[in-house]
Amino acid sequence: MSLVQTTLAMILSVNGIGQQAPDAMGTANPPTQVRISYGEDPTRMMRVVWQTKTPTPSLVVKYGTSEKLEQMAVGSRPTYAYETGALAEATLYNLKPNTTYFYRCGSDQGGWSDVQSFRTAEPNPSSFVFTAFGDHGISPDAVKNVENVLFEKPAFHLLLGDISYANGNQPIWDSYLSQIEPMTRSVPYMLAYGNHENERITVDEKQVRIGYVATLARFAMPGFEQCYTFDYGNARFVTFNSDDYTNPIQQNWLDQTLAEARRDKKVKWLIVFEHHPLYASSKGRDNNVGLIKAISPILDKYKVDLVLSGHDHHYERNYPMRADKVTSKSKNKYKKGEGTLYVIQGGGGKSLYDFTDPMPDNCAFREKVNGYMRITVPRKGSLKIEAKRVDRSIMEVIEITE
Ligand SMILES: [Fe+2]
Repeated sequence: MSLVQTTLAMILSVNGIGQQAPDAMGTANPPTQVRISYGEDPTRMMRVVWQTKTPTPSLVVKYGTSEKLEQMAVGSRPTYAYETGALAEATLYNLKPNTTYFYRCGSDQGGWSDVQSFRTAEPNPSSFVFTAFGDHGISPDAVKNVENVLFEKPAFHLLLGDISYANGNQPIWDSYLSQIEPMTRSVPYMLAYGNHENERITVDEKQVRIGYVATLARFAMPGFEQCYTFDYGNARFVTFNSDDYTNPIQQNWLDQTLAEARRDKKVKWLIVFEHHPLYASSKGRDNNVGLIKAISPILDKYKVDLVLSGHDHHYERNYPMRADKVTSKSKNKYKKGEGTLYVIQGGGGKSLYDFTDPMPDNCAFREKVNGYMRITVPRKGSLKIEAKRVDRSIMEVIEITE
């Protein structure tokens, strides 16, 4: 089956159509929506999350460097008040860096997932690739972007917030997580929290905010989950919840985290990913003045190299900025440190937004199309940023030179 057919079959299955009857062993409660994400140390830790229809007596990941799966991790069961099934989460510790592992999750009582594989992070790679987009949801383009990530074979994928667009309707999470499973069972999927993760439900015809409970239960991000950091090679990735940017605790965390990154001699590239763009020319939205005022001085202070955002459903990229001013009008080649490059890739798969007219002076390139980022981080030499359309054609290529 094609990925689209497979995805539709999985969505039907999640919705209770086409589910198998129990077999002779009574095992018709197998894991669905299998996904992996890095732990605090991507070279040595991986988290596995899955869901079954009903709770099973045990929650296990069997894993190993061969398909014999000779190691075992016992999981726990995250819960939330509006859950649609039984979630399970397990952490694999003390993995070998730069190593392919095979795994399956589930239980003897409920059944097992197929054997999948992943690769732990390489501590000092000559180069690595990651992909990114935000504002994903359920749509034909969202499925194509899942295929695009698999095509690019990245070390990991960054989802720049606004994930499922469940908007309180919890079964939509199941459909979405089934849609992306072909990617998430083998590519570590790392989140930034967006405004659509802050959900509401209807109770007695009134809207009641339930907040981030679904995202917190359904994913297993490092650290505080809404703000965290991880390293791959010579790059440090930092995210924070941009919907909560005025929170002084989070602002202090961001300042201290970026300061620590710049003190660490191993860190060359400092990359922030978060949901709301600072600089934007989406019609009716424009710049986020509050975010610029609160956050850009912190990003400037530590000379963050790249900021990846979503929220606006299209592609837009600024010239490098420092102290609210453009620092280079070069077309697509910049010197490291001369400014922070702000990129919006909110074209994960939702309907697209228009731009303001005319294009603002600080905007270098923009295009109303769904797409994704493919970014190559070398040990030596230039950071290469490729902005691609959903059909994989290239919009632009940007270099940040040493
Ligand atoms: Fe958003």
